[in-house]
Amino acid sequence: MPRPTRQVFVCTQQRPPGHPRGSCAAKAATPLLQGLWAELQKRQAYEQVAITYAGCLGPCDGGPNLLVYPEGVLYQRVTPEDIPELFERHLLGGEPVERLRADASTW
Ligand code: FES
Repeated sequence: MPRPTRQVFVCTQQRPPGHPRGSCAAKAATPLLQGLWAELQKRQAYEQVAITYAGCLGPCDGGPNLLVYPEGVLYQRVTPEDIPELFERHLLGGEPVERLRADASTW
């Protein structure tokens, strides 16, 4: 298996209803992850991008959160509508999408 250029970790953490930290699962992280996988398949970009689910990344308030390495860019409040731009600009193009990036005080 070739080493991908970028690795995306998508928080799909679940917590019980009413938990004080909430969760990315409660903020539609699973449909987001499925959308990312579908875009990966559509683009057949398996040699450039790997996408996997993850547990809590820390800043739950801003979920759904995803983290992209090797740059270490944390994205927050990502929606399925953001997926094509994420692929085009960052995951394949190498330029982070600033409007989705976590505030510097968060990460
Ligand atoms: S639950 Fe997703 S970052 Fe904490």
